[in-house]
Amino acid sequence: LDNGLALTPPMGWLHWERFMCNTDCRSDPDNCISEKLFMEMADIMATEGWLDAGYEYVCIDDCWPSAKRDARGRLQADPERFPSGIKALADYVHARGLKLGIYSDVGPTTCAGYPASYGSYELDARTFAEWGVDLLKFDGCNLQNISVLVEGYTNMSIALNGTGRPMVYSCEWPLYSWGEYIKPNYTQVRRYCNQWRNSADVEDSWESVRSLADWAANHQSLIVPVAGPGGWNDPDMLVIGNFGLSHSQQVTQMALWAIMAAPLIMSNDLRNLDGFSRNVLLNPHAIAVNQDPLGRQGTLVAKLKNNVDMWRRELAGGGMAVALVNRNQIGGPVLVNVSLSAWGLLGARVARACTPWCAVQVALPPGDATFLRLQGQAVRVAVNPTGAVLFTVRPHGGLPQPMVG
Ligand code: GLA
Repeated sequence: LDNGLALTPPMGWLHWERFMCNTDCRSDPDNCISEKLFMEMADIMATEGWLDAGYEYVCIDDCWPSAKRDARGRLQADPERFPSGIKALADYVHARGLKLGIYSDVGPTTCAGYPASYGSYELDARTFAEWGVDLLKFDGCNLQNISVLVEGYTNMSIALNGTGRPMVYSCEWPLYSWGEYIKPNYTQVRRYCNQWRNSADVEDSWESVRSLADWAANHQSLIVPVAGPGGWNDPDMLVIGNFGLSHSQQVTQMALWAIMAAPLIMSNDLRNLDGFSRNVLLNPHAIAVNQDPLGRQGTLVAKLKNNVDMWRRELAGGGMAVALVNRNQIGGPVLVNVSLSAWGLLGARVARACTPWCAVQVALPPGDATFLRLQGQAVRVAVNPTGAVLFTVRPHGGLPQPMVG
């Protein structure tokens, strides 16, 4: 969507995967969907390095509205859980240099059964704009007639644009289209949305993360060409820092989401995150790959021996990012020895980048930078089972540096 927003994949935090539709503020006040939750996340994002690293959007998902619209027909927040209202929450978030995301649905009710936008797209867009909202996640549940899916998503896009307030428009249009066995028109999706979900809701498990990456790989010829500044494929939230992913698997999610130019929207409890997860999520090299200004989504380029997948992404300035993923769930680390001269797989860009030398930076797991020559040298890495290694190869002008490692 050409609205000047999302020129690189949006980064932030969204409540859904970790906090779901917990509305029980009486017995679980710290984890229920309430203004307190978003204020606490905003405080942490602003003060503990998240905003500085690029995580900017604090986003509300389902279960925020009151069961009834107000006397003028407008959506309103649940008065008990959001006593100050959304406008006050937006002000709070903005005062910390962050942006606020909200959620609605193209049908009459949300997936969890709360009032949604069908028949009120313009009114709701105006309400969100008046509140100072900066992003809308627009779900696709409960449309009585699937033929209005395209119309609904398009009309909401036009309504948001009509408010004059810049708001990132996050769609689930392709997902619900696939759900009806209708192949989405991705050119149209890109024209109206800043990011769009294609595949299932992420869950807190390796199985889920792996299958979302597999979905992208299996559909890459369809979805990759449309991604770029202003519009991104969204394989759903980062679940790093929760309960289901091992350290290696957290590395893999970050590496693949970086290669896939995916929105980096965490769903975790920032109040309670261990140092490992924090370092993965804040890894500056992985974030730089994700936010690369060229905006080219990477692809699966080869299935190497020993069950290792190789992904690559072109970077601005003639570089390349590479992720190696060990799909085995048995055994120890697999040693992968990619000789630079055999890197036909990585294409002319790497050959150019490495003539006569290139800089190789291991981003994840955190590693050293080394300088390599195209002829006769190799990148050697050990990739843990269900883990990944993410590295970049960038042109290096001037004299070769001393070899490291
Ligand atoms: C759908 C969406 C999820 C989440 C829930 C909320 O399942 O795909 O991301 O927003 O609805 O009910």
